[in-house]
Amino acid sequence: MHDPVIALEDVRVTYRGGFLGGTGFDALRGVSLDVAAGETVGLVGESGSGKTTLARVCLGLLAPTAGQMRFAGQPFGKLRQRRGQLSVVLQHPEWALNPRLRCGRSVEEPLVLIGVPAAERRARVAAILDQVGLDPGFAARLPGQLSGGQRQRIAIARALITSPRFVVFDEAVSALDVSVQAQALNLIRDLQAEHGFGALFISHDLAATRYVSDRIAVMLEGQIVEEGPAARFYQTPEHPYTRALMAAV
Ligand SMILES: Nc1ncnc2c1ncn2[C@@H]1O[C@H](COP(=O)(O)OP(=O)(O)OP(=O)(O)O)[C@@H](O)[C@H]1O
Ligand SMILES: [Mg+2]
Repeated sequence: MHDPVIALEDVRVTYRGGFLGGTGFDALRGVSLDVAAGETVGLVGESGSGKTTLARVCLGLLAPTAGQMRFAGQPFGKLRQRRGQLSVVLQHPEWALNPRLRCGRSVEEPLVLIGVPAAERRARVAAILDQVGLDPGFAARLPGQLSGGQRQRIAIARALITSPRFVVFDEAVSALDVSVQAQALNLIRDLQAEHGFGALFISHDLAATRYVSDRIAVMLEGQIVEEGPAARFYQTPEHPYTRALMAAV
């Protein structure tokens, strides 16, 4: 097994009470999770169980209230070191893409932020568009001139262009219709084989999760209640909540 790219130990997140005060809400209650390079961990669980909160912690967008975190073996302290190393693909590519920016520019932007020279940026944009299966002409289009599936490919290209070591897919295929979804799942698998990033794949769709994941973790009320290899998981789920989830498929 590779060294974990992300390692969380006993992580807690308490959202502060509202503006009227009141007690906080414990969205994560002692979560420990590792994701290795080249590995996909699927995260399933009901709405509100804390999946996106866990993703935001992994991405460094939300500081844990307590617990330990390491990125590539280092304490999760310095933001600079992580620039371009962590990426996310969300459910609605519209959220990641500026509607007034040509797609090529949106894909290129993360490279500008990490100071990659212009000539290299252009070459990398062309390469990643090819890898996500879009011909170079798409670079000149606006997001509004693309289908949903094509837009999601642009969002994936943008997330991967910096060669991140860890990528979160938070309901990344959920808004796509079924045939496009299958293509997107295959694309994610191919890109991971090529780039070797560790991935956290969050979805309500158990079949999709099983298809892309090496391991699966089940969240319930801010805790991981079961975790194991994807194959074993679906044959002999242990936790009663997991059995209920499986029975619902
Ligand atoms: N900024 C916030 N402030 C206060 N509470 C929050 C905040 N963000 C999320 N929560 C609460 O934390 C809990 C976990 O939310 P989270 O978004 O992590 O769930 P989720 O598992 O991603 O759900 P879904 O499947 O619906 O996306 C929910 O009860 C939610 O209301
Ligand atoms: Mg969520």
